Amino acid sequence: MSKISERSKNHIIQIKPWEDKDLDLLFRINAPEMMNHLGGPESKEQVLNRHKRYLELGSKGCMFSITLLPELEAVGSVGYWQTIWNDKSVYEIGWSVLPSFQGKGIATIAVKLAIDKASSENKYKYIHAFPSIDNPASNSICRKLDFNFVSKCEFEYPPGNLMQCNNWRLNLIASK
Ligand SMILES: CC(C)(COP(=O)(O)OP(=O)(O)OC[C@H]1O[C@@H](n2cnc3c(N)ncnc32)[C@H](O)[C@@H]1OP(=O)(O)O)[C@@H](O)C(=O)NCCC(=O)NCCS
Repeated sequence: MSKISERSKNHIIQIKPWEDKDLDLLFRINAPEMMNHLGGPESKEQVLNRHKRYLELGSKGCMFSITLLPELEAVGSVGYWQTIWNDKSVYEIGWSVLPSFQGKGIATIAVKLAIDKASSENKYKYIHAFPSIDNPASNSICRKLDFNFVSKCEFEYPPGNLMQCNNWRLNLIASK
């Protein structure tokens, strides 16, 4: 079983598979300042659908809440899901940490814990992250966790909005 918690300077950071009670956390993540690089906040119905998708990912991946111990305070989300890239199945990973907890290294540790979990499954060779080119914190996380920069790419997300992203890729077999 891969590790699901790790000590930072001041806290223990734990990732836990997404639960029904995490809906409130998802609404807090859906704040305008959090969704700047992700196409803006979603409607209530979109958040409810996202929550349902997180709960029902099954064999297609896993979403986690990020919790600080011993306070048991929910501070963000991280997770990976199967997608197709260049005709091959790969994992894609995404992350969020609430504003008052940012800049403390929490996302970096939580993303590392999720990568360890994806790697332990032995399912896909690669995991990709596609942060916006204007998201320095997320691009820095990729760099620090030894992702390789592949190329810039463009996505239409949400429909009607073109996002310029960096394609970062990590070899899950080599990262063990
Ligand atoms: C991206 C995000 C998860 C980072 O969370 P965090 O817990 O603050 O990240 P960390 O503290 O682990 O910091 C990661 C790195 O980014 C750097 N960083 C943080 N904010 C930064 C900023 N505004 N500009 C430049 N670098 C920044 C940190 O310095 C750190 O690098 P370092 O260790 O080399 O100094 C958080 O800002 C967030 O949730 N943003 C909104 C949602 C989002 O954009 N999600 C990502 C979609 S790909």
